[in-house]
Amino acid sequence: MSILIKNGRILTASEDYHADIYVEGETIHSIGKNLNVSANRVIDATGKVIFPGGIDPHVHLDMPFMGTYSSDNYETGTRAALHGGTTMVIDFVLQTQGKSLHHALESWQGRSNGNCYGDYSFHMAVTDFNENTRQEISQMIEEEGITSFKTFMAYKGALMIDDGQMVDLMQEVKKRGGMVTVHATNGDMIDKLIARHRAEGKLSPLYHYLSQPEVTEAEASGRFGDMANYTGVPAYIVHMTCEGALNAVRRATTRNQKIFVETCIQYLILDASLYQKNPEGAKWVMSPPLREKKDQAALWAGLNQGLVQVVGTDHCPFMWEQKMMGAVDFSKIPNGHPAIENRMELLWSEGVRTGKISANKYVEVTSANAAKIFGMYPKKGCIAPGSDADLVIFDPEEAHTISAATHHMNVDYSAYEGWEVQGKCKTVLLRGQVAVDEGNVLIHKGYGEFVKRGKAGLVI
Ligand code: URP
Ligand code: ZN
Ligand code: ZN
Repeated sequence: MSILIKNGRILTASEDYHADIYVEGETIHSIGKNLNVSANRVIDATGKVIFPGGIDPHVHLDMPFMGTYSSDNYETGTRAALHGGTTMVIDFVLQTQGKSLHHALESWQGRSNGNCYGDYSFHMAVTDFNENTRQEISQMIEEEGITSFKTFMAYKGALMIDDGQMVDLMQEVKKRGGMVTVHATNGDMIDKLIARHRAEGKLSPLYHYLSQPEVTEAEASGRFGDMANYTGVPAYIVHMTCEGALNAVRRATTRNQKIFVETCIQYLILDASLYQKNPEGAKWVMSPPLREKKDQAALWAGLNQGLVQVVGTDHCPFMWEQKMMGAVDFSKIPNGHPAIENRMELLWSEGVRTGKISANKYVEVTSANAAKIFGMYPKKGCIAPGSDADLVIFDPEEAHTISAATHHMNVDYSAYEGWEVQGKCKTVLLRGQVAVDEGNVLIHKGYGEFVKRGKAGLVI
């Protein structure tokens, strides 16, 4: 199979030019002006922008969490991602405390194998670091191609590890050439605030927000950075929301430390005023919570200052009925919101079109940097001969409105209902196949492959 994409505006993390792209098999064969080749299919991309397929390095599909499962499975979640221009996701395997990493991996493989439309990989969440787990770290890296290890400083009793385990894990991961990532919030402090609010009968979604003040994230981000600096492990903070946490990373640069930072689309464009709505505010109950306008400004600036390298989603959808498990108690609302399909179009519309970030920065933070940080570059996140032909042909002029009535995620509301978006993913290629064309899915379930990742590329 060969495809010739003619006369598009090609965007990478560093370039912006007009040319043709010739795709042969799964990869990009050549790029040039007026390519004179015959192909099985020719796509006219005049007036369109072409960028690398999005990589969302933070999603939770079919995840057991807070007494239920996230409502998108690997089939519906990766298919919805493709509609929105995301060709690859990195999901999280969660170790059960008292059990091995391999036990958890088998369970996640059981739900994902053969079910994905898009390409995918896993981070391994270590929730119980002990001598057995220690042995498994190198096996994950060398045999499974899982090179990043997620930790939680919150969700005590289920996912949280203490600082002693954190330092032990960091030393082992450093030795083996991996990376430690973190949900950085002060779990003990949050649990205390939740208990106090519940005891006082303060049970609406607003108290989810008030139980996780900025200081809980800022403190934990600084502490995590200190432990990473002490151990020398490559470090990455997921879903950063606020100025205080970003300043902890900024301070770490003064001792020449590099901590990678991911924010998520919702923290750039939504704010905590949504928690005033009851019960509707449950739609945005996620951890950490949405913050203030001043935090949005800090995160946009952080992208341009190179302090924030990645924009993901933390896609973790629940049906409204599931959200209503916490109808009378915010602490029982399953945490998470749907965005896997919306990230690329929202960030273009709210970021590039408004001039907050450049088109090259857009590619950096939606694909190229994740590919580099998580050991997949230049296979992914790149438009160059030899790279996987994961391409989005995007119409920057087409306006549309986000709605649960038209989205493809398996969730019965949209966190962005009624948002006017300018720019639409028209045609999406995944490894040389047209995966989505004008809203129609043209590949089959199981086309998506597990991507074994290399050791992290530390210079981006
Ligand atoms: O609210 C969230 N973020 N749910 C998913 C789990 C996590 O902490 O990332
Ligand atoms: Zn988290
Ligand atoms: Zn998450």
